Amino acid sequence: MSEARKISTVPLKKLIKQKNRENNFCFSLDGLWVDISRHHINKTIFDKLIRLANAASIQDKFSMLNKGEHINRTENRPVLHTKLRQPNWRKTDEWLKIVSFSEKLRASQNIKTIINIGIGGSDLGPAMVTNALRTFHGRQKIRFVSNVDPSDLNDCLEDCEANTTFFLVTSKTFTTAETLQNASLVLNWLRQANIEPSKHMAAITASPNKALKWGISEEHIFNFADGVGGRYSLWSAVGLPVMIAIGKENFVSLLDGANQIDNHVFYTPNNKNLAIILALLRIWNRNFLNIPMHGIMPYDQRLAYLPAWAQQLEMESNGKSVDIRGDPLALPASPLIWGEIGTNAQHSFFQYLHQGTEKQSLDILIPRNSLGTSLFDGWRESHKTLVYNALAQAEALAIGEDNFKEPHRNFPGERVSTIISWNKTNPFEIGRLLALYEHITIASGFLWDINSFDQWGVELGKKTAKALEKPFSYNNLSHAAKRFFSLRDAKD
Ligand code: F6P
Repeated sequence: MSEARKISTVPLKKLIKQKNRENNFCFSLDGLWVDISRHHINKTIFDKLIRLANAASIQDKFSMLNKGEHINRTENRPVLHTKLRQPNWRKTDEWLKIVSFSEKLRASQNIKTIINIGIGGSDLGPAMVTNALRTFHGRQKIRFVSNVDPSDLNDCLEDCEANTTFFLVTSKTFTTAETLQNASLVLNWLRQANIEPSKHMAAITASPNKALKWGISEEHIFNFADGVGGRYSLWSAVGLPVMIAIGKENFVSLLDGANQIDNHVFYTPNNKNLAIILALLRIWNRNFLNIPMHGIMPYDQRLAYLPAWAQQLEMESNGKSVDIRGDPLALPASPLIWGEIGTNAQHSFFQYLHQGTEKQSLDILIPRNSLGTSLFDGWRESHKTLVYNALAQAEALAIGEDNFKEPHRNFPGERVSTIISWNKTNPFEIGRLLALYEHITIASGFLWDINSFDQWGVELGKKTAKALEKPFSYNNLSHAAKRFFSLRDAKD
């Protein structure tokens, strides 16, 4: 688009002061506020981007997803996670089984700590939401272990007693090396304490037979469908740690929030559709303005793990080089996603964002009000300071400040950002926020015409690590790798 070149010459600081900017570029869905006015766009570009979405038949693609067609072609599977947020899902045996188990565990006087063992999608979503909704927790502690580094499990178990601890082994495939290795360590830990493992372990998986074979008892196996992708699986039985933490009613609110966004995305025209608009901006920034990275900065302590979750969501989904037919992509897809909570990030890498040589786009996330704390007065003022900082960063990054006499104090501005804001961080709002992010990723994948639901790129690393377990495979290694192993095997 030659408009991209043209608009890059109009300073953002001028664009954002234009009349009607907030009317044209701020959207609200029942208080979920999305402000895209600090992007390098005008009405002409916005309209052209919407035409791009129309031409890509994006609504037809969402409708194929919604109808359960096998749009994950390389795995010949449907994409089912949005079904789990529909109210009629709550009549299924799968749902009733997790609710009854969760309530039993919550009511148990004996169990004090629940530990989820899983990695990737079997960890990031539940860990992030459990942390985000701490205000709604019951009396039990919920913890997460993911890394095969034994220190992770060690640090988690340090203050636990075997007879009061329950483990959820979460793995869609039930073949993931890290998870099974940690689960085996747990088995030994329980046995050493003379605790019968089958009474203190459950499995959450799409491969129930493998869990059964591993030794988990049948009544403790919670199933979900193959069509629910790992990084989209929070809404299934994988959300069990969240349900145990916050209770069934709050978990239902989380699902209702996500369901509201599904209905919005499936049935709203492209020019008012929040996920499609934000996906178009990802494409605009990445492919037309050549901005290679996108930061996610939650100004909400409880959303500390959101960037890690969003990294897997976007980069495992859209970090691809071929399209849905296997042809090389003409334009690069997923930006690099990273992020950190504000205001901490401001005192860490925001220097790079304000004055570095590369530009980035940002999402600045902020609840307008806090749920507060009962421990001390004055928290309202602290939250106001947090909100001022979020807004200040969006403005400063866009507008900058000229100081030509002292170049080190010159702020060029022209850094684009979206503000996403909601009232208070409760289960419903978290459901809406996460579903919105999922749909941005899916809509961008539709626009890039890639399969956002497979992840073949992680297989080679797994295969190579497996091969290294056999000493004779060392022959195929690079010289540096052989040297490393001889160092490791040398006596101290
Ligand atoms: O290796 C990547 C991955 O396959 C992710 O897609 C997935 O979320 C994670 O590993 C964990 O897989 P599983 O749930 O099968 O243990």
